[in-house]
Amino acid sequence: MTITPRKWWQDGVVYQIYPASFKDSNGDGIGDIPGIISELDYIRSIGVDIIWICPMYDSPQVDMGYDVRDYENVYPPYGTVQDMEILIAETHARGMRIILDLVVNHTSDQHKWFQESRSSKDSPKRDWYIWRPARYIDGVRKPPNNWLGNFGGSVWQWDDQTQEYYLHLFCPEQPDLNWENEDTRKAIYESAMEFWLERGVDGFRVDTVNMYSKGEMLDAPITDPRSEWQFAGYQYCNGPRMHEFLSEMNAVLEKYDAMTVGECPNTPDMGRVLKYVSAKEKQLNMVFQFDVVDIGQGPYKFQTTPFNWKLPQFKHAIETTQNLIRGNDGWTTVFLENHDQSRSISRFTSDAPEHRVAGGKLLSLMMAALSGTMFIYQGQELGMVNFPLEWSMDEYKDVDSTNYYAMVNERNGGDAEALAAAKAALQHLARDHARVPIPWSASSNAGFSTAKPWMRPNDDYNICNAKQQQSDKNSVLSYWKRMLQLRRHYSDLFVHGDFDLLDKQNLEIFAFTKTWQNRKALVLLNFTARQQELQLPPGAQNQKMELLVSTLDMPGGCLAAYEGRIYMLALD
Ligand code: GLC
Ligand code: CA
Repeated sequence: MTITPRKWWQDGVVYQIYPASFKDSNGDGIGDIPGIISELDYIRSIGVDIIWICPMYDSPQVDMGYDVRDYENVYPPYGTVQDMEILIAETHARGMRIILDLVVNHTSDQHKWFQESRSSKDSPKRDWYIWRPARYIDGVRKPPNNWLGNFGGSVWQWDDQTQEYYLHLFCPEQPDLNWENEDTRKAIYESAMEFWLERGVDGFRVDTVNMYSKGEMLDAPITDPRSEWQFAGYQYCNGPRMHEFLSEMNAVLEKYDAMTVGECPNTPDMGRVLKYVSAKEKQLNMVFQFDVVDIGQGPYKFQTTPFNWKLPQFKHAIETTQNLIRGNDGWTTVFLENHDQSRSISRFTSDAPEHRVAGGKLLSLMMAALSGTMFIYQGQELGMVNFPLEWSMDEYKDVDSTNYYAMVNERNGGDAEALAAAKAALQHLARDHARVPIPWSASSNAGFSTAKPWMRPNDDYNICNAKQQQSDKNSVLSYWKRMLQLRRHYSDLFVHGDFDLLDKQNLEIFAFTKTWQNRKALVLLNFTARQQELQLPPGAQNQKMELLVSTLDMPGGCLAAYEGRIYMLALD
């Protein structure tokens, strides 16, 4: 096997920042760029190499900045382009790199390109977005197809002025750009990419990257007979021109040695994923697959009940993403949280007061031992958990949550039981849980702001905050720091090694090995609230081994509730 030199982003640990909720510097209740700058030393102290800033561009904020009005400007409450330049310089001065969120599947309907496009059918920018005439069924005006939008409803919006529909896979205020048009693509590269690459950013997390090529836009199969609109993720993702578009985009990025990580939903076929991340294909450096984070979700995400999954499914999802690097030139990612997911402790372990710290350490140990570039989402390092069921629906600010709740209400004529089930699902899975302010201290407003924050801080900030955890050697934060050091020390094994799942069907213990040349580690993770016998799984018996680390200071003869361990195995 030929050994290719490693890229800077492979061993890097990425820390994701959600500007609105990270830190408020000027007392308006909204996080901002100076707030981020003021905590760069904190971020560095965790052991992070790269920061990823969620959209800070000028935006009407219908979808928290994923609706960009101007790529070349900053949302005023967050700061200015100059603040961004300072952030870039200060990040680099600390030996870290910085990537931005590249949101170019769609813009805001207030972007000047769309304003021009919608102004008339003869506008030179008409074709920069996706316009189609209506179809008439029994004389009734209908959208061009039956696709369901990501936030509910049809993906088509009727425009009275020019008497056509435009496509929006997300909110109506987020019209999809037409990637088929070469001028549009060029404008995207210049305005959204090169503007910031020239200012020194080191790469991008590429939003909804597999949706650029829409193919023929045929009707989706009927999977929800009660609805006029049908799930179409397999229609609009991974269309025929994806690879061509990405090659073109990569040619721009390559000039800057920029890193890319693409968001890749609705792609269970590993052959396809590999094509995106294989080094020789020159498309993307890596992607976020949804195998792990989609676990337990219903066909329509919230149509499910909490903990509607079994451990073997979780193991299988991890195995799938780990195997991407095996025997080929692809690369993978390790993540459990981001701004679109609820908190991992609440989802995959237990957020009961007596277990939450153990759960946080267990997931930290697991992630530290998995191959690929690692991503930590703000607050994950503090072991943050979902906010409680008692909070009213008013505390949910995300369109995804509020649209779903309104839809259930409408469909069921306000039925209390249906609404309670919807709320239980939201309490478990809503994106809002990731979007509450970071608890910096036990003082008022969780030390996030001197004013009332735009979202309510979680009730537990007196016991879960950065200040307390920095001085507590048993905190989740201290554990993350330790695990990131260990990962760096054994990077061959943990970042690049081969993953082998043991005892797949075991419903309570997740066991796997990592192997790199003559080194092998065994990872044992107790995913239950009960003590478990310390039994070596089939495949790891009769081997000499030494404990490398546990989530407990003084591990005993059994695996404690939510305890994790790594052993080094002696290879003969
Ligand atoms: C991605 C983002 C999400 C956003 C959507 C539309 O999935 O991560 O937050 O709502 O794209 O841009
Ligand atoms: Ca502010």
